[in-house]
Amino acid sequence: MNHQQRLHYLKKTAALSNRDITVIQNPSSVFNFDDANRMIENAIGMLILPLGIATNFVINGKEYVLPMAIEEPSIIAASSKAAKIAKIKGGFTAQADRSLMIGQVQLVSLPASVESAKKKILFNKEHLLNLANSKSKSVIAKDLGVRRIHDKSQNKMGEMLVVELIIDTLDAMGANAINTMCEIISPRIEELTEGKAILKILSNYATRRLVRCRAIFDKSELGGEQIVKRILYAYAFAYSDTYRAVTHNKGIMNGIDAVALATGQDFRAIEAGAHAYAARDGTYRSLTKWYKTKDGDLAGEIELPMAVGTVGGIVSVHPIVKVALKILNVKTSQDLAMVLSASGLAQNLAAIRALASEGIQRGHMKLHARNIATVAGAEGDLIDIVANRIAAENNININRAKEILESLSRKTK
Ligand code: MEV
Repeated sequence: MNHQQRLHYLKKTAALSNRDITVIQNPSSVFNFDDANRMIENAIGMLILPLGIATNFVINGKEYVLPMAIEEPSIIAASSKAAKIAKIKGGFTAQADRSLMIGQVQLVSLPASVESAKKKILFNKEHLLNLANSKSKSVIAKDLGVRRIHDKSQNKMGEMLVVELIIDTLDAMGANAINTMCEIISPRIEELTEGKAILKILSNYATRRLVRCRAIFDKSELGGEQIVKRILYAYAFAYSDTYRAVTHNKGIMNGIDAVALATGQDFRAIEAGAHAYAARDGTYRSLTKWYKTKDGDLAGEIELPMAVGTVGGIVSVHPIVKVALKILNVKTSQDLAMVLSASGLAQNLAAIRALASEGIQRGHMKLHARNIATVAGAEGDLIDIVANRIAAENNININRAKEILESLSRKTK
């Protein structure tokens, strides 16, 4: 499809309005410098990223079109291809926990009996929960616990307690509401314990808000039994070696961050939580698991924390994000979490399949060649003609692209 056909397709499948199409085609008409200047400090302009769509995603029996904001070539094609293979065996099956987040209040300078301070907090649990819930209508503090923290720092600052609020943020990511609740209960906790509350902040390690996703990939579509075996070697490598695991997980985050960015999520929070989860047994490992089914197909699974929202933050105000969410057609934060996990799993499959077979450079270089052709000055049909030539010659550089362009223009004169 060309650009217009893609937009037409989206207009039909995602029921986009004419205004939505204008928003996608001409984002600066709806998001200008004043908007940017309200959002951050010392704004000087805007950074523009490509926005594309990945297709073929079937998640829990429903078709999705995934908006992806990303600068790296191949990601969207790879995702769509992996999702197409998954579709043959029914697509992705995903499940997301409730939106339970953790808010932390750090307590120091405690009186001699830390245990009795802990007991006092727990004795007043209901009262503290009511206090936490006194200002909020949209999120609900559900539970409260206290942990003793062993100070492993070099400074040896003494005994610490951490009071942890468990908060149901429903369809919001919830950061602001959680931080507010932690701040509201802190003075009362200080009174109860005679300690000092230092930090009051959410934890981005959202282990109560996990998402999991699974898919089966047909062995012949992947390229046969040998490829399946080679992919399993790739997984064994990522499971067993941190240097490889980081790159393996970076590939997963290619799929997750691109959708997260397009849909206005705090991708740094997702990243931080994901990497901590990858190291939950003490060693940093692959976030995905791969194994062979009894039919010889390849099964993949992913599980990670996923603190995302479909309301609040920039989701409700950013015009392009709003259209991206409309394209994705998710209502709840759990649905969004499931889509993100499927995107990560698909991207990982695509990367390790390519790495375990022809290598990733062939696909990458083809797209890179188009960029080089454009930088060399090619326009319209000439972009592909020049790109194909420099790729075929295995000589992807600007000077060669310029030479080819010049020789083509001499021929047409
Ligand atoms: C590149 O952005 C991502 C990969 O390096 C991931 C991987 O190695 O699995 C291809």
